[in-house]
Amino acid sequence: MSLLPTEQLIDRILDHIDNKTTDLGDQVWQEPSSSYLSQERFDAEVNLIRSSPVPFCPSAMLTETGSYVARTAAGTPIVAVRGKDGVVRAFINACRHRGMSVAKGSGCKKAFVCPYHAWTYAMDGSLRGIPGKEGFPGVAMEDNGLVEVGAGEKGGLVYVNQKGTIDDSTLEQFPDFFCSSQEFLEEEAITDEANWKLLSETTMEGYHIKGLHKTTFYPYGLDNINVVENFGRHSRITFPFRRINKLRDIERSERKIEGMVTSVYALFPNVSVSILSKHSTVTIFEPISPTRCTMLIYRVTNKLADGTTVDKRDAKVDADFVKTTGLDEDIEAAVSVQESISAGADFNLTFGLFEKAIVHFHQNFKEKL
Ligand code: FES
Ligand SMILES: [Fe+2]
Repeated sequence: MSLLPTEQLIDRILDHIDNKTTDLGDQVWQEPSSSYLSQERFDAEVNLIRSSPVPFCPSAMLTETGSYVARTAAGTPIVAVRGKDGVVRAFINACRHRGMSVAKGSGCKKAFVCPYHAWTYAMDGSLRGIPGKEGFPGVAMEDNGLVEVGAGEKGGLVYVNQKGTIDDSTLEQFPDFFCSSQEFLEEEAITDEANWKLLSETTMEGYHIKGLHKTTFYPYGLDNINVVENFGRHSRITFPFRRINKLRDIERSERKIEGMVTSVYALFPNVSVSILSKHSTVTIFEPISPTRCTMLIYRVTNKLADGTTVDKRDAKVDADFVKTTGLDEDIEAAVSVQESISAGADFNLTFGLFEKAIVHFHQNFKEKL
């Protein structure tokens, strides 16, 4: 993986501050507004998400045997669960009798009992019980387990590939994000009237910090001073806080980056992992329709520069504060763009050299679709 080591990343940020520069891409990209409205394009994207390895939830939500998370992933009901052997598996969350979902939300169970007629499944997906079994002659238990999909775990995240398998080599492309001492804090779901890409694009550039977040994030963060690194189909965008200038007084080899920047990893296609000061977020941009998206946000506690883990209460204070520093403004921007597009405005969205990660994102789509 070609991401800069911390010392060099800090050097590059301080150089940008001194020279009033930022990382630049190598081309301007024009994306037709129809990409954010067309049902055909939407269906192709959903299909691509379903056939890619995509983060599903933090491992910190599945710490115990039998702990599970159930949600839709690109429209498919999926449940991920940690088995007795410690392995996380994922299944289509649909009973093999008549299809009702066997798990809801998150929690910890010994078995999944379908709420409709109580067919019962073990945590490895196998069918273990059919009430009134004599009513189902010829229905073999061994042929009617939950349908398994690809799943794997690396660096604190659980990944799912609905149409393929996941092995260690698949996951090599992803950095390690969280260690086992980082705890699950909370989850949140926000549904917005905007194409999922418009919402995701707000997280991928720092060119709008002063414009959109003048009184919220800009008092703490620098405008249009970013390090943008593309790796594989993914990107890492580093947003420095003003306080990073304090590092100038510290010996280069002793500098710690924790708390000095927000690191946003845009994981292709539809997930963003942000490492903030005292907590981190995993945001899934779950496409609902061409003009509607649910952002599923999972929050976990952070590890600090001294190696200790942030207390949950402190992480919660940090999370509540971050919610006031621009999330609503980002959503408002995406919704406003969608309103123009949905009203029939036919134009190209222009992404410039400062929006390098978004250009990379669209290039990937062009290649893949
Ligand atoms: S649908 Fe699940 S038991 Fe009938
Ligand atoms: Fe923003």
